[in-house]
Amino acid sequence: MVLAAEIGQLRWMVMFDVYKVREDFPILCTDVHGRPLVYFDNAATSQKPQCVIDAVIDHYAQHNSNIHRGVHQLSERCSAAYEAARSKVRGFINAPRDEDVIFTSGTTDSINLVAQSFSSAYLRKGDEVIVTEMEHHSNIVPWQMACERSGASLRTIPFDDQGDLELHLLKEMISDDTRMLAVSHVSNVLGSVNPVKEMVSVAHGHGVPVLVDAAQSAPHIPVDVKDIDCDFLAFSGHKVHAETGIGALYGKSEWLQEMPPYQGGGGMVANVKVGGTTYAEPPLKFEAGTPNYIGAISLGAALDYMTGLGMNEIAAHEERLTEHMLESLGRFEGLTLYGDATLRCPVFSFNLEGLHHYDVGRILDKMGIAVRTGTHCAEPVMDHYGVTGTVRASLALYNTIEEIDVLLEGLERVRSIFA
Ligand code: ALA
Repeated sequence: MVLAAEIGQLRWMVMFDVYKVREDFPILCTDVHGRPLVYFDNAATSQKPQCVIDAVIDHYAQHNSNIHRGVHQLSERCSAAYEAARSKVRGFINAPRDEDVIFTSGTTDSINLVAQSFSSAYLRKGDEVIVTEMEHHSNIVPWQMACERSGASLRTIPFDDQGDLELHLLKEMISDDTRMLAVSHVSNVLGSVNPVKEMVSVAHGHGVPVLVDAAQSAPHIPVDVKDIDCDFLAFSGHKVHAETGIGALYGKSEWLQEMPPYQGGGGMVANVKVGGTTYAEPPLKFEAGTPNYIGAISLGAALDYMTGLGMNEIAAHEERLTEHMLESLGRFEGLTLYGDATLRCPVFSFNLEGLHHYDVGRILDKMGIAVRTGTHCAEPVMDHYGVTGTVRASLALYNTIEEIDVLLEGLERVRSIFA
């Protein structure tokens, strides 16, 4: 039994060699304030492997031209690369068809697209939208705006101190007035993995569509829209090792067919006459103007990279990091960790007794350790715990056990400076 487990562990270590993976990311070899960089701000943005950087440089240097418009060779090459990237996104999230994937500028843009387009067609006075108390502002504010415009109201599913959603309340809150449930797959503050599949099942039982914000899950765990059965799913490129300014929105084709366009302009039309316009079929209906095609190509390269490593292997590596981090933080005297959800990703928010999160972050920075401090664009989570902010260490596929130990030494040093 023990031998089998050891062989399993060895096999996995050979398959996912984090030290080899780190060689793919040039920035990880750099120093900050004369110390080797320990990058623990991955929930804000992740670092880029050389293959993604090369894909961007190669397309600007060898192929660049606007897509879907030219008859010439360069335009055809970039158009083909853009559509190939769409196909890679489809594969990454297991969407049924390429046409169900819309390129956006990121998760915020994807959610705004749905909030505006969906609400203009379906949200009326007296209706309700449900979100959770642990959403990033980007999955609250667009819905507040949609509710203000339509006269609908926004309701919130609370979470307990452990960081688990009070799921039983969804069953009580959802009603004939509910038009949409919008929920994060993984909290950007607590790391909690929410039971989105179960939530979709409850919502669909009442005929309510569900939007899943996968900004913080896509970098860490396999995301499967067929399995979740969500109606919409959004994620950002820059958090999955691609460029900034690119992201994706998945939508079930019946919704994308029915929903009105989000923005008007070139590329999203079938025919334009001064008397009126007919729109292109999805996804182009929702991609007005010149899209960020180089960003999309970088996203395709990044997803190839991640699937090459294996999402299950990445998740297994990060599980080991999570175990070590939880054990280390748990032993640290005077440290309060916010959230200890049943299922979690490697995002850890904490405070040190008597110290301001900002001071902790600044001193860690002097030691080459990049963490984030503040509210993390999730003020309702701060309000839940009655804090003004936290220190957040968020890990990625290239982080190591040794780096966690460096963080803990750093925290000891912070404590001794202020003692
Ligand atoms: N949404 C990003 C974060 O949580 C910026 O840090």
